[in-house]
Amino acid sequence: MAAISLEGLFKSYGATQVVRGLSLDVREGELVSLLGPSGCGKTTTLRMLAGLEHPDAGVIRIGGETVAGPGVRVPPEKRGLGMVFQSYAVWPHRTVEQNVAYPLTLRRLPKAEVATRVREALRWVRLEGLASRRPHELSGGQLQRVALARALVAGPRVLLLDEPLSNLDAALREELRAEIAALRARLGTTMVFVTHDQGEALALSDRIAVLNRGVIEQVDTPEVLYHEPATPFVAGFVGGANVLEGEVRDGAFLTPGGTRFPLPPECRASDGPSTLVVRPEDLDLGEHGTPLPLSARLFLGHAAEYRFPVDGTLLRVVGPPREARASQILHVQLRKARLFHRG
Ligand SMILES: Nc1ncnc2c1ncn2[C@@H]1O[C@H](COP(=O)(O)OP(=O)(O)OP(=O)(O)O)[C@@H](O)[C@H]1O
Ligand SMILES: [Mg+2]
Repeated sequence: MAAISLEGLFKSYGATQVVRGLSLDVREGELVSLLGPSGCGKTTTLRMLAGLEHPDAGVIRIGGETVAGPGVRVPPEKRGLGMVFQSYAVWPHRTVEQNVAYPLTLRRLPKAEVATRVREALRWVRLEGLASRRPHELSGGQLQRVALARALVAGPRVLLLDEPLSNLDAALREELRAEIAALRARLGTTMVFVTHDQGEALALSDRIAVLNRGVIEQVDTPEVLYHEPATPFVAGFVGGANVLEGEVRDGAFLTPGGTRFPLPPECRASDGPSTLVVRPEDLDLGEHGTPLPLSARLFLGHAAEYRFPVDGTLLRVVGPPREARASQILHVQLRKARLFHRG
């Protein structure tokens, strides 16, 4: 178990700056997710932590030891890490047991010890019965468990997970997500978990670092991130909020196209250019509010999502399922919203 510190990391590929001054501390035993859209630098950051890439600038410490920095580059195998990738990355011609044993045989541990530790690791991921199977005889979820066992077998100080669940179907993903949470509670390993799935990050993490174009916009607990997003980007990405540009005038929010939303009392702000951030479930459909033509209604089971065109984007409202037809005019009212002033 070890704490991790990333300090002022920069990384470019050619002329493209991919990571731009990224700093993050992960406490011992903590699970921190790197969450952000495709291409924002999550994998690059994880690869620098693992030692597969070297930062152009900045310092990386694991357990207080500098593993990357000016003049320092500790190779991956000396960093005491386990890593699981999105693709299963197991050897097709080896059995489950041989796959999991690999990091230990590399270290030339005695056979008996290897066997004991492999058995234990397979028990952690509930694959005891499948030790002699080969990868083509396993499901996707089982393959990813093999990768997890192999990453854990050598007792890493830190476990790095790069979208380990995204190749799995929804049910398997849920199952393995619970498994990772249970393993973590049991082993107490420090974990850095990369994902672009906000639900996954909210469910698993102690804290989440939201990345946007190579910088961290906010690091907080799932609760704080969800309820108090620091930027419109975080609100849009984490809570699936509607984000509208416009201006505040006379207690209402006005879009450039002329749609006017009266602001709820606790949301009054001084006049001027603003970004309005409002979650779909914080909008009400009723008799009052802004009249808008419905463009689509999606039945969600417990609720329905209603979409309205506003200035070239779609405003999403989630509420109780009700009868409504396309292009019918419905009234939309803000119950709760956040405003970010633009300078
Ligand atoms: N070896 C490389 N050479 C050149 N460009 C690269 C290389 N690796 C990554 N990039 C670029 O750097 C950017 C960040 O890539 P990265 O893989 O870190 O993104 P990511 O956040 O993991 O995205 P995803 O969610 O799609 O996996 C991308 O624009 C990518 O094209
Ligand atoms: Mg990636």
